[in-house]
Amino acid sequence: MDRPSRRNVLRAGGVIGAVGALSATSPTSASALWTWSPTGSVVGKGAGVDPRYVWDPEADAVVASVIDRGEVTKVNKLLKTWTKNGQALPKDLPADLRAFMEEARKLPSWTDQGKLATAVDFNEKRGLYLGVTYGFASGMMSTVIPHEARAVYYSKGGADMKDRITKTAKLGYDIGTSNAYKPDGEMIVTCVKTRLAHAGVRHLLPSSRAWTKVADEEIPISQRDMMVTWHSLPTTVMQNLVKWKVPIPAAESEGFLHSWQVCAHMLGIKDEYIPSSWAEANSQAEQVLTPVLKATPEGIKLADLLVNLGSILDGGLLTRPILSSLTRYVLGDEIADSLKLKKDPLWDGVFDQAWEPFIQVREGLLSLEKAPGALQKAYWAFDELLRLGALLFLSEGDLPISIQIPDMNRPY
Ligand code: HEM
Repeated sequence: MDRPSRRNVLRAGGVIGAVGALSATSPTSASALWTWSPTGSVVGKGAGVDPRYVWDPEADAVVASVIDRGEVTKVNKLLKTWTKNGQALPKDLPADLRAFMEEARKLPSWTDQGKLATAVDFNEKRGLYLGVTYGFASGMMSTVIPHEARAVYYSKGGADMKDRITKTAKLGYDIGTSNAYKPDGEMIVTCVKTRLAHAGVRHLLPSSRAWTKVADEEIPISQRDMMVTWHSLPTTVMQNLVKWKVPIPAAESEGFLHSWQVCAHMLGIKDEYIPSSWAEANSQAEQVLTPVLKATPEGIKLADLLVNLGSILDGGLLTRPILSSLTRYVLGDEIADSLKLKKDPLWDGVFDQAWEPFIQVREGLLSLEKAPGALQKAYWAFDELLRLGALLFLSEGDLPISIQIPDMNRPY
């Protein structure tokens, strides 16, 4: 068995953080009416148009033109050399794309550097829990978001999941770095490149016969889809940390939210759809995320891939049932059953009885002697699980990762 080096753990971690990927091929119906008010957004106002019918017009027009002009290969080569937030854009980029990117790289006027600094404290203090929650709450959840799954499955990246996963994991890594949005950081670059990649997908995917056969929308990655996926990340992470009673000072909770609000803006999400508070985020998620969650054939395969992540450590003997039970604990029986994750009589019970006391013990709020008996036996396993998650979350982005504009759909 291979030793879990930083690099292969990072690769595996990619699977975890990235699985916004390949679920689903069957249409989903769930699209409730949009009633969330823009008064609850970071800017407190807006037209209130259903984001299902809003995409990213500025990015979409310029990227479509780059693709149609046959300039993608040249542009991707140039984009590879643009890696730091404060770095000048490559001068040979086509003028229209360059002009767009100069605008797109600007932080929103409502960015609060103080809050971003507090987010760094939060990420450092809570990195241990963030790995597990990004991986097994957000990652698993993405296997049951049909729009995202279908778009990814039928786009170019769907054919090489390992590569895609590594690229997507970069965003999860970058947002947690101490200089994420600073000139020497990389989060702005990652967001702008991702915005371009999404625009490329919007232009190309409607000509995929495989996608149009199963999709229930004409153009993928609407602003509504963007918010759904966004909620599978910070909203879901925070909901779980709160549920597990992890003590989080209000300022740190707000800082973490702010780092993701800025991320949303930098990904091209309109300010009027970005929630101003956790209460607003929870109410929007209730409306757009919860009703769409649905297993699909590809989602089932993906979930299987995720629970096998620990195989690099023990061939899956213990880690598979533990990760399956963690998923069941986090996402509930209905979703776990639909993902065909097996019940485990031992570990399902251990999570139910011992996970929250485990957090309390770790946080110094409960002594191990007073904790339930189940925890005495499971403590080491839970601790290892956190460490694995943290390793994934904190692994350096040591691979030469460059997010690119796709030039084709999934080849068959
Ligand atoms: C690409 C993140 C929402 C579908 C990417 C990439 C990142 C990313 C980092 C680049 C990785 C790569 O090139 O492989 C995010 C984040 C989102 C989000 C943080 C929301 C907050 C969505 C949604 C969909 C989607 C809603 C579909 C409904 C795709 C597709 C690609 C992609 C198809 C391109 C894969 C290819 O190159 O073929 N995303 N994404 N994403 N994303 Fe997203």
